[in-house]
Amino acid sequence: MKRWLKYARPYVKYFTLGPLLMIVEVIGEVVMPKFFANIINGGVANQNPGYVITMGLIMVAASLLMMMGGVGGCYYGAKASINFGADVRRDVFAKVQTFGFANIDKFSTGSLVTRLTNDVTQIQNFTNMLLRMCLRTPGMLIGALYMAIRLNARLALVLAVIMPIMILVMTVVMKVSFPKFTRMQTMVDGLNVSVQENLTNIRVVKSFVREDYEEDRFRKANGNLKSAGMDAIGVIILMMPVMTLFMNLASLSVIWFGGRMVLLGSMPLGDLTAFITYITQILMSLMMLSMIFMSASRAVASSKRLSEVLDEHVALSDENASRKDLKVEKGRIEFKHVFFRYYETSEEPVLEDINLTIEPGQTVGIIGSTGCGKTTLVSMIPRLYDVDEGEVLVDGVNVKDYSLTHLRDGVGMVLQKNVLFSGSIEKNLRWGNQHATEEEITAAAKSAQADDFIRNFTDGYQMELGQGGVNVSGGQKQRLCIARALLKKPKILILDDSTSAVDTATEARIRQSFKGELKDSTKIIIAQRISSVRDADTIIVMDDGKVTGMGTHEELLENNEAYQEIYYSQMDREEVRA
Ligand code: GTP
Ligand code: MG
Repeated sequence: MKRWLKYARPYVKYFTLGPLLMIVEVIGEVVMPKFFANIINGGVANQNPGYVITMGLIMVAASLLMMMGGVGGCYYGAKASINFGADVRRDVFAKVQTFGFANIDKFSTGSLVTRLTNDVTQIQNFTNMLLRMCLRTPGMLIGALYMAIRLNARLALVLAVIMPIMILVMTVVMKVSFPKFTRMQTMVDGLNVSVQENLTNIRVVKSFVREDYEEDRFRKANGNLKSAGMDAIGVIILMMPVMTLFMNLASLSVIWFGGRMVLLGSMPLGDLTAFITYITQILMSLMMLSMIFMSASRAVASSKRLSEVLDEHVALSDENASRKDLKVEKGRIEFKHVFFRYYETSEEPVLEDINLTIEPGQTVGIIGSTGCGKTTLVSMIPRLYDVDEGEVLVDGVNVKDYSLTHLRDGVGMVLQKNVLFSGSIEKNLRWGNQHATEEEITAAAKSAQADDFIRNFTDGYQMELGQGGVNVSGGQKQRLCIARALLKKPKILILDDSTSAVDTATEARIRQSFKGELKDSTKIIIAQRISSVRDADTIIVMDDGKVTGMGTHEELLENNEAYQEIYYSQMDREEVRA
């Protein structure tokens, strides 16, 4: 609760103006029937047109005031709740941005999407409703009760019977429906997970002709949501006719008893009509109250889910970094007895006692069988994951002591599972450096051997990429990703299998351009092909999470069995091809 109050504070003006203006409307609504009764009693019964006109004019003026109050109240209420919702959404999104990979895995992307959209909307709508109703409904209830009792206390006894019954019905309904709404929200999650996974991977789904399976999965999630929704709404639907029945019973009793009073002359006719209106107002505001509680139960469920995100502990953060102002200057890398597991419970570590030193400006190749831990090893440098034991040093400083921004600015990494975003090619490249000049962008693209094919597109650098960069080829995508990393002018550049879809000749030209452009930067190249790493200063051979050899191409050919094996298997293939 305290958390949400904090979000209301900047808009405290709207938060108070909204309900206060609603009070104007409610006062009008409560006095209106009384004016009407006066017209009947004093004007119609006495045949006094002057009185009717005066009273009528007063009512018109009151209506105008009411309208202004109502419109203003709705306006400020909406303004307050929309601003409130936007701020909450902003902060939840910002929090998600700080999440490490482990946090995202825990929530799942689909659930995060639901929380950011549906759950925020839920509490925003509730805030809006609350602002409009929080003074209006109790105001109307109390006002109408007061007026009814003042008009005819004996007749008001009808309420003493009907109201407790209605309150009882409402309490039961709310008790039953509370948990149902919470369940409904988790079903929305389930649906979003299914939709999100399907849409991001629609190409794979199609190529494996899995549409039927996916449709089935969706149908199940959709069905679950439907029945959860029906279940929750069903109770409310049932409540409506029961409440209407009681309302009509109340009106009927009032007409029955009140009618007799009118006939006996102990109650003016106008008072009876006003009384009926007050009864309706009282019972309506009771129903309104139940609606507010119902909506509150949904909002509470949503606010819990949002709090879970906001309170999530992010292990991988730079809060305790001791050298936040430090930037990566040279690009020296050192691994000291590094151990790493993806799950605490796994028996075998993915990285086992890694010790390495890479000097600034060196080009280092990493080679090894698939799944041996190459990607994991380099992920430790920009701190995509934290080591379990040992330490990783950059320029002699533990990576945990850098601010994440400075560390990741200094380390350019082209991920193995690389992605581009929807937007123009130029916008995508600018991820590397927002302030790059046009010349810098072209230069980076040229180094990555991307400039030629970009210029061949009709729109050149302005060509729009689809989501995930679907409209360029695999090799083109890799080259765009390299260009994007080059624009950062990183002190350490890591290419994780980033030229696997690029032909050998083009790849050689990319390597050649590194020698000029990134002379002083440390370059780490993970590759499957020996040809990609053979002229590196040092080649690291990995096997099963361990470093099994280090040296130049010639040295390793001489004394490393695993390297020889890879080399000769690839040579054979080259020969067969030739
Ligand atoms: P290739 O890219 O295929 O050449 O393999 P690699 O040498 O880059 O292997 P990588 O470092 O990606 O994986 C090493 C081991 O860690 C493998 O046994 C994977 O199953 C495991 N692994 C990799 N990524 C993850 C991850 O995100 N989560 C978990 N739990 N395990 C992972
Ligand atoms: Mg890999």
